[in-house]
Amino acid sequence: MARGTTGNNARRVEIATLWPMARPQESLTHLYGEHIAILCRQVEQALQVSAAAGATFDGVVFHSGCETTYPADDQTVPFRPLPHFARWAPLDGPDHCVLIRPGETPRLFETRVDDYWTAPAARPAHPCFDVLECETLARAAAAADHMGEVARLAFVGPEPRAAARLGLPLSPLPSASLVTALDWYRAEKTAYEVECLRRAAERAAGGHRAAVTGFRERQSEYAIHLAYLQACDALECETPYPNIIAWDERAAVLHYPHKSRTAPDPGNVLLIDAGATAWGYACDVTRTYAAEEAPAAFRAALAQMARLQRELVAAVRPGLSFVELHERAVAGVAAILADVGALRVSVDEALERGLVFAFLPHGLGHHLGLQVHDVGGQLVSAKGEYRPPPEAHPYLRTTRDLAVGQVVTIEPGLYFIETLLDRLRTGPDAAAFDWEQIAQLQPCGGIRIEDDVLVTPDGGEDLTRPWIP
Ligand code: GLY
Ligand code: MN
Ligand code: MN
Repeated sequence: MARGTTGNNARRVEIATLWPMARPQESLTHLYGEHIAILCRQVEQALQVSAAAGATFDGVVFHSGCETTYPADDQTVPFRPLPHFARWAPLDGPDHCVLIRPGETPRLFETRVDDYWTAPAARPAHPCFDVLECETLARAAAAADHMGEVARLAFVGPEPRAAARLGLPLSPLPSASLVTALDWYRAEKTAYEVECLRRAAERAAGGHRAAVTGFRERQSEYAIHLAYLQACDALECETPYPNIIAWDERAAVLHYPHKSRTAPDPGNVLLIDAGATAWGYACDVTRTYAAEEAPAAFRAALAQMARLQRELVAAVRPGLSFVELHERAVAGVAAILADVGALRVSVDEALERGLVFAFLPHGLGHHLGLQVHDVGGQLVSAKGEYRPPPEAHPYLRTTRDLAVGQVVTIEPGLYFIETLLDRLRTGPDAAAFDWEQIAQLQPCGGIRIEDDVLVTPDGGEDLTRPWIP
């Protein structure tokens, strides 16, 4: 499948000029300074929550994590910094940490080991080095020499061995209440974080344009994957989650991880769920494309899903229950199933009997930030009370009411998943469906359309659409 090299080069130049500094660096520096001030207040509040729960600390060390090797091997497992650390500084690699003591400038300890086997990663051109008080150290343990009294510091990191190396007390480890309170605050993004999320969408745009070309040319999943990475100027390990690039019936696999090397047959439907990162922040974007040769009923379902997704995005506003928004999505999918002739009962009856689950077996969305499935989506307070998902929708990750500053994905889907259909076909509800019609649609796999939406005082702002139509 010929891929126009000239076109790709043109795209690369375009992305290179857009990324990573589409907007002036000064504005990022200003936003980052405000971000750090907000984070310092959040740590103070979290320390108060922790003290009220019986665990008192003078400050917190956020640690990026340690490198690990595969068993009986000297190769390292791909590393990701702990998000609690990455929120302060977008440094790649292990053994960095940040020390926060209320009332003092946050201190960043950057470890750059002079190792002749592997050079340290390039230093990012990021304002953290100017805004934080930064020490660059040749050994991970050297941070201990600069931290002063450590006996009453909380350690927030994935590896107790890192705490031991720094001489930090292992007992009591930070109570769950400190980390839970920080998770609660993390859900409401600062202006700096929103800017990073916008830049992530901007970066993913080139990849999604390349995927449209791949769809039109019916390229293999593998070829589209490579074109996507190149257009985003990303290594595979730099995407926020493994690209999902699925032709036809494979679009029914929710987290389809494979990349077929062969051209699609028939190549009627392409689902691509792929993101990018900016300073550690992720975007999470899905598009579904159907060729003219796809069954008319599937094309109709796709058009209706596009409308439903727009309605759900437009409904976003502060105070809205995400559970209710999810229920609205389920009702919308029931209506689509009815319209394409897959149901033999009314929409109301299908909803009452819970018949939509097999076609939409995931939640409408999740919080988004440093993690694709970001934390805090089921909390109802900084103190750790949480709201479990309703019994009818156990997979819903977000039960927290929407509030200004939150960023959530809105990703309704409709799938023809053989395992789930088989349970229906052989179960007591089989007569509620038109199995001939479903058999026509099943080779098309499924539909998902996903955007990232910021909750604003007036409603919502779609962070994806300006870049990826
Ligand atoms: N890309 C994974 C998700 O949409 O949740
Ligand atoms: Mn998602
Ligand atoms: Mn996704």
